[in-house]
Amino acid sequence: MKLRTTVLRKAGLLAVLLSCAGAGAAHAADAAQGGNAQAGRDKVSMCIGCHGIADYKTAFPEVYRVPMIAGQNAKYIENALNAYKKGERSHPTMDAVAGSLSDQDIADIAAYYANLK
Ligand code: HEC
Repeated sequence: MKLRTTVLRKAGLLAVLLSCAGAGAAHAADAAQGGNAQAGRDKVSMCIGCHGIADYKTAFPEVYRVPMIAGQNAKYIENALNAYKKGERSHPTMDAVAGSLSDQDIADIAAYYANLK
């Protein structure tokens, strides 16, 4: 009797775990487009100095307001970085920063910042 309830409980738990894993995988595939937020976390050390502080201004080469990118849509961040990289958008620092990033870096960083609140 006791054994049977244990087995049933285990089966139930397994079903829940399986359905969670399925949903998680689908969600990750959805949001990712190749971007990995975990990997992105290791790639933003050079961004934090400027983008990590609310309402921060850089003084080089002029005074710029630094836009907040945490919580932005991943696609938006990706587009912005690609635009700097390709020269469609221009800013002295961001051109250099984006130019040093690979497509994978950009996707990972975008995923990271999109998940950052
Ligand atoms: C020296 C300061 C500095 C550093 C370092 C820096 N940024 Fe920026 N970033 C800026 C400034 C200033 C702007 C606004 C430029 C403009 O007006 O086009 C900007 C713009 C952006 C934008 C566009 C935001 C928008 O709303 O249009 C993105 C995305 C971005 N940065 C991502 C990054 C990432 C990712 C990194 C690190 C790999 C990084 N930045 C490093 C200063 C910096």
